Amino acid sequence: MKSRKFAKVEGRLPGAKASAVVRRSAKDIAPSFARFYPLVVESAHGALVKDVDGNQFIDFAAGIAVLSTGSTHPKVVQAIKSQAEKFIHFSYTDFYYDNLIKLSEKLFPLIPGGRKMVYYGNSGAEAIEAAMKLTRNHTRRTTFLAHSGAFHGRTMGALSLTASKPMQRRGSLPLIPDVVHFPFPYCYRCPWKQTFPSCDYYCVDYFKEQYLEKFVPVDEVAAYFFESVQGEGGYVPAPPDYFRKMEFLRKEGVLFVDDEIQTGVGRTGKFLGIEHYGIIPDVVTIAKGIASGLPLSATIAKAEIMESWKPGQHASTFGANPVAVQAALATLDVIKTEKLMENAKRMGAKAKKRFLEMKEKYEIVGDVRGMGLFLGVEIVKDKRSKTRGEEEAHRIIDYCFHHGALVILAGRNTLRFVPPLNITEDVMDEGLDIMEEGIAAANAATKNA
Ligand SMILES: Cc1ncc(COP(=O)(O)O)c(C=O)c1O
Repeated sequence: MKSRKFAKVEGRLPGAKASAVVRRSAKDIAPSFARFYPLVVESAHGALVKDVDGNQFIDFAAGIAVLSTGSTHPKVVQAIKSQAEKFIHFSYTDFYYDNLIKLSEKLFPLIPGGRKMVYYGNSGAEAIEAAMKLTRNHTRRTTFLAHSGAFHGRTMGALSLTASKPMQRRGSLPLIPDVVHFPFPYCYRCPWKQTFPSCDYYCVDYFKEQYLEKFVPVDEVAAYFFESVQGEGGYVPAPPDYFRKMEFLRKEGVLFVDDEIQTGVGRTGKFLGIEHYGIIPDVVTIAKGIASGLPLSATIAKAEIMESWKPGQHASTFGANPVAVQAALATLDVIKTEKLMENAKRMGAKAKKRFLEMKEKYEIVGDVRGMGLFLGVEIVKDKRSKTRGEEEAHRIIDYCFHHGALVILAGRNTLRFVPPLNITEDVMDEGLDIMEEGIAAANAATKNA
């Protein structure tokens, strides 16, 4: 094994202690969790993770795009400790505390648009459930629009919008009715085999002709749910004017719900992914990175929409937990003072350039896309056929794990690159070297097959 500065893997993985945990987990824990490889975490700081056998890994997954300020940032840890010493829970459903208002005041200027109000929950799916209930309540309409390839969570309401893998729905049907899915503009795999920009946004015309003119009564649509960049669907950004072109729906009274659960909190180099597209949504959902790993989500809506709710219509015992709120305040402070959005932009540009060079070099690198530290590298069998390189992608992430870099997939065959927003250049470069070795090895194996 090569000697490296940060990544250190001794012997076979999983090691003895990790193997024992994996065995015990298989006995006791629900098997619905789908893991990529057997990492058993002992501790983590910044973008470095130690496992229970003493191996060290470079973190390009950030707890699935959650650890915005890296693991255990001292300011976040201090905020958690000092709040925990004051009070840990009091339930905002029945009582008040001040740090929640402070968080809202800090959050609102970061979200485009005028006067807003916010509902806090614990998870991404909860934020989506709240947005579904809120938009139905406000519009008194029933139908939701969402994209194929979308991921909005796994609770029954959110799952009704989710359409990225059949397994996520298996055994749970029927879901809530009146959800209409239509294709996302995944330009690398254009469903209409067109090429951008000569297609002139045929996807939007198709949606009008085949959906609104054929079977969706638009005046019964409450909301259009979308991810500014599709996450679990394969890290797929929409083309630049897509959401602007879809804005015709707003004239019909359809609310725009922008799911920023994975793309938000600075990950794309701007606070929200939608800022790259120049539209102002009616409702924005945030979770993952907002509290650096503590469970917290926010459904932020134009005030007049949120004001349609009356006391008792929606709440959660644990939502807006004061310790998580304090962690979120520290997270926003660190993002601002340590210029993490600028770092995401700079490091992201550097990583993207490197991935684009790999695309030139290796037949199995089909597409490189995304912005900031939200990048996807789509692996194919070969560039011409674009056949999904699922086996190759798994081989690459396996190589990375065994050589000390944590990389996970988005969709079936896209390597997802979402390190902490404060990753340093030296750590990132070493991890990218490992990724490139993995890609080169998979490329050679495919060539020789
Ligand atoms: C865009 C998006 N929405 C919603 C969710 C659901 O979040 P959670 O897993 O916290 O329920 C996710 C999770 O990956 C997501 O990426």
